[in-house]
Amino acid sequence: MTEFIFPPGFLWGTATSAHQVEGNNTNNDWWAWEQAGRVREPSGQACDHYRRFREDFDLAQQLGHNAHRFSVEWSRVEPEEGQFSDEALAHYRDVVQHLRRRGMEPIVTLHHYTNPLWLERKGGWTNRQVVEHFARFARRVAEALGGEVLYWLTINEPMVYIWMHYLDGVGPPGEHNLILSYRVMEHLVRAHIAAYHAIHDVARSRKLPAQVSVAMHAQPFWPCRWWWPGDRIVAGMTEQMYNQHMLDALIEGVLRIPYGRRLRLADAANTLDFIGMNYYGRVFLRMGTIGNRQWVGRRCSTWHHREVTERNGLDWDIYPPGIAQVVSWAAPYRCPVLITENGICTADDEQRSRFILRHLAVVARLLQQGVPVLGYLYWSLLDNFEWADGFRPRFGLIEVDYRTQARRVRDSARRFAEVCRTNRLALPD
Ligand code: FCB
Repeated sequence: MTEFIFPPGFLWGTATSAHQVEGNNTNNDWWAWEQAGRVREPSGQACDHYRRFREDFDLAQQLGHNAHRFSVEWSRVEPEEGQFSDEALAHYRDVVQHLRRRGMEPIVTLHHYTNPLWLERKGGWTNRQVVEHFARFARRVAEALGGEVLYWLTINEPMVYIWMHYLDGVGPPGEHNLILSYRVMEHLVRAHIAAYHAIHDVARSRKLPAQVSVAMHAQPFWPCRWWWPGDRIVAGMTEQMYNQHMLDALIEGVLRIPYGRRLRLADAANTLDFIGMNYYGRVFLRMGTIGNRQWVGRRCSTWHHREVTERNGLDWDIYPPGIAQVVSWAAPYRCPVLITENGICTADDEQRSRFILRHLAVVARLLQQGVPVLGYLYWSLLDNFEWADGFRPRFGLIEVDYRTQARRVRDSARRFAEVCRTNRLALPD
């Protein structure tokens, strides 16, 4: 056995998002989409976390967590264009203070897939005005929470957001439109830049530090057939576009858009103070018309691949070495990395423990090699509403009985807690 000691101050915790846990987010586009019957089941009360957050944070604290990532629901904070709700802002201030009181570092996401209805009516992320709207919202939240929050994530998984909502169409507005997807990409990048500066302005005016980033969703793309150049080209192109173009834009100030075009963006350079990375597994791509649509090529089912030895409850690949790969992509940008999500949905809690420990082992080795990793946030604290897949996938360290809202701490949560509490991980040689 090799024992690894994590650095002092390493952030240990979990991530959630407002719409997936809070319940009754009736004023956003996902809610409307659900009511229109476009998903397995509606989010409804979800985990009722909007009211039960204190008890949920008690559990997280008992599990040794010293950090927690959550998102602020834009449609609660700005229910109508330009009208901000003091009550909602006070709620999130309360959330932050309850975390601080329990010794947990708050990590705040500003956009996690959902949009207020008024924004959606104006064309959502296809309308250039979204950039100003988002920056104004970011400023208001920073003013309300600023003194207490150091870590900010402007946008969760910009590439997944684009894919889910504008390419694959499983989320609102349900588009399948390549051209729109690039327009949305540009607006997301511009919105991050504007929000980055807004948050820093507020922090500067109070002489306080702020660390701002995005939560990237990074994944290794493997060609379905190594021997087929078409598949290798498709995988290579996607890997660059999906994992790197946005980071390049936010560090170098130039966004590469298709057909070799480059967009120079004002004030974009160095707008990442650290890099948030969400990691779940590998994806296999092929050229052709069979499989799930991507920007270029199609995505294979994991059942079609012998390389895949383990899957989660949604058939996603499980591949712990990939976490080292995605963290290594951040290295050239010379920013520390925070693992902002990594998790598994499964009915087998033993598999969850194995998943966490195997990924942590890889993170531990990265730290040993001197790679700056700030922390690890498991997705998720609670079972929750998994978008188009509804409540069936169980990602939580804590099980939720949706009929009674009762919580039950899983064994995997206790295994993870040992690492969080002791800062130690014993690795088999
Ligand atoms: C991530 C999302 C998160 C959750 C997990 C399972 O891509 O950020 O909201 O759905 O996947």
